[in-house]
Amino acid sequence: MRTIVAALAVLAAAVPAAMAGWSTIASDVGTAATGIYFTDATTGFLPADENGAGAEIVKSTDGGKTWTTNEPHQGGLLFLDVAGYGENIVVAGALGEEYSIDGGAYFNTSSGGGSGQCVRAVGARGNPDAIAVVGEFGLFNPKNGVAMSTDGGAIFTTFDAKLFTDARYGAFPSAKTWYISAGNWPEANDDKPSNDDFAPKNDDFSDAPSTITRTPRFELRKTAKGGYKPYVRLPGRDAMVTGNETIFQAQISLSTDAGKTWNSVFENKGDFYANGIACIDDNNCCFVGEADAGAAAGARIHCTNDAGANWNRTLFLPGPQNSLLDITATGTAGEYWAVGGTLSSLDANATFYHSTNSGNSWTLDSTISGSYASAVDCRLPPPVIRESTAPSCCAIDGF
Ligand SMILES: *[C@@H]1O[C@H](CO)[C@@H](O)[C@H](O)[C@H]1NC(C)=O
Ligand SMILES: *[C@@H]1O[C@H](CO)[C@@H](O)[C@H](O)[C@H]1NC(C)=O
Ligand SMILES: *[C@@H]1O[C@H](CO)[C@@H](O)[C@H](O)[C@H]1NC(C)=O
Ligand SMILES: *[C@@H]1O[C@H](CO)[C@@H](O)[C@H](O)[C@H]1NC(C)=O
Repeated sequence: MRTIVAALAVLAAAVPAAMAGWSTIASDVGTAATGIYFTDATTGFLPADENGAGAEIVKSTDGGKTWTTNEPHQGGLLFLDVAGYGENIVVAGALGEEYSIDGGAYFNTSSGGGSGQCVRAVGARGNPDAIAVVGEFGLFNPKNGVAMSTDGGAIFTTFDAKLFTDARYGAFPSAKTWYISAGNWPEANDDKPSNDDFAPKNDDFSDAPSTITRTPRFELRKTAKGGYKPYVRLPGRDAMVTGNETIFQAQISLSTDAGKTWNSVFENKGDFYANGIACIDDNNCCFVGEADAGAAAGARIHCTNDAGANWNRTLFLPGPQNSLLDITATGTAGEYWAVGGTLSSLDANATFYHSTNSGNSWTLDSTISGSYASAVDCRLPPPVIRESTAPSCCAIDGF
């Protein structure tokens, strides 16, 4: 893993996405990041971590080619994901949210949220209703689900998504329709925390030990093939988890009344855990999942065309080396990108799967040697002119 740990790369697909392969457009952006968000063709944000410097929000104004820190943040903050709309930018992290109302010039601390590994705009991307963070919220009787802000990220209200496992990612196709993906992997595979502190040096995976290293930020798990695979891990998670920690579990919980009531619309106990989820609209959604052990080891995509009533597994990549971490809808009819990689003890290759028929079928569009794509985002398609050479979709190699 040494080769991909040192360089945090930004990976991009040019416009129009359907015609272009993915390539690396920036390297060595930081040492760890798990989210990426572009406001428009030129302006993008990454929640990054610099060795020794702690958490920071880095910004690009040239379509992702160069990235600069626009504000120093104190060490100890752990930023994991970023999203926004217009001049509003919200960063989620293990110790709370921060928000900007001026295009990222200044970030202030949000109130009411908690530990979130995913933040997404709610509703139409160009005209959102709110911004949502998925994770665990509150120290006492924590809510495992979603925190919602209707004022650009200043104040969050929390909702428990009635899950039997950890809330991980969300998709919010409209103001009232919220999908939460959840999952856990067998804790029996885990060691005691050996690096249970916030020292940045422990975020460097290049000194992977012979067993398993866990930091509050990430956990390294040994794969069946003897390699290492990183997982985002929130501090205090063990204390809050309600699920069965001896098996892989995946779950999708759906609310169609803005978080008042929830239905468990997908459950798997034993095969895999769920990662990113994305929706084209209230009825059409897909999520990615994976397991690196067991009879059903491999990466997969499950999709619904009927608002969660049925989920078909429309892609399965068998084998513990296959990983899918995130998925996004592009805004073009029927189009999704799902990203992840193949991992071994020696190297990793980022993979980019594409669907243009609402997730019914997938093609492997691109592979990038030496990378591992952990998050993907597509900006709104340009309304008129499509001959821009700026990237329309970006992914981050966060490890
Ligand atoms: C940051 O938020 C706090 C709490 O809402 C507020 O009192 C303060 O004025 C804000 N700071 C800036 C620079 O906007
Ligand atoms: C966890 O899953 C295992 C395997 O299916 C099962 O035997 C066990 O009873 C479950 N434990 C709980 C607490 O649900
Ligand atoms: C990555 O791709 C290279 C070829 O570019 C191949 O040799 C290697 O086995 C691949 N590794 C994984 C984990 O897929
Ligand atoms: C799921 O499978 C059914 C039956 O083959 C099909 O009608 C439906 O379109 C499929 N949905 C997805 C999302 O693949």
